[in-house]
Amino acid sequence: MSEKKHRVSRRQFLNYTLTGVGGFMAAGMLMPMVRFALDPVLRPAAAQDMVPVDVKLDELTEEPTRVDFTIKQVDAWYESEESRSAWVYKEGDNIVALSPICKHLGCTVNWNSDKSNPNKFFCPCHYGLYDKDGTNVPGTPPLAPLDRYEHSVKDGTLYLGQAKPREGA
Ligand code: FES
Repeated sequence: MSEKKHRVSRRQFLNYTLTGVGGFMAAGMLMPMVRFALDPVLRPAAAQDMVPVDVKLDELTEEPTRVDFTIKQVDAWYESEESRSAWVYKEGDNIVALSPICKHLGCTVNWNSDKSNPNKFFCPCHYGLYDKDGTNVPGTPPLAPLDRYEHSVKDGTLYLGQAKPREGA
């Protein structure tokens, strides 16, 4: 093997050096731009904050009342408002806030709307039934109880957070 084959000419050396330095500088300029463009996608989704709902606490009874409210939804670059509902009632000194989303196929349940099953949450889609505390009635299509909203009371205002699933009946 001759030594001549491994020699790098001045032209090649300049080419390699300029390509390397140029690539390094280009990466240095592009990385912040790429990071800036992708940042909302890379950021973990923020947990939903507690949102105040328009219900007078002293008017709440043991009868479930439907409360509608909106939350801000952030999906990468897109911000929107989403409508939510809850069935809210008093249980002694406590407040119960149930999701109206049926655990069978996601229809909306109503309180006391089925005359043959009074004092139950009724899902009209496939005749699903839930007790007042959200427990699914065995023998009807839903296989899990209604989700419960996290909630808190501050300065006389009810705040609702995430609707969390419970153990099945
Ligand atoms: S969606 Fe409610 S019973 Fe089927």
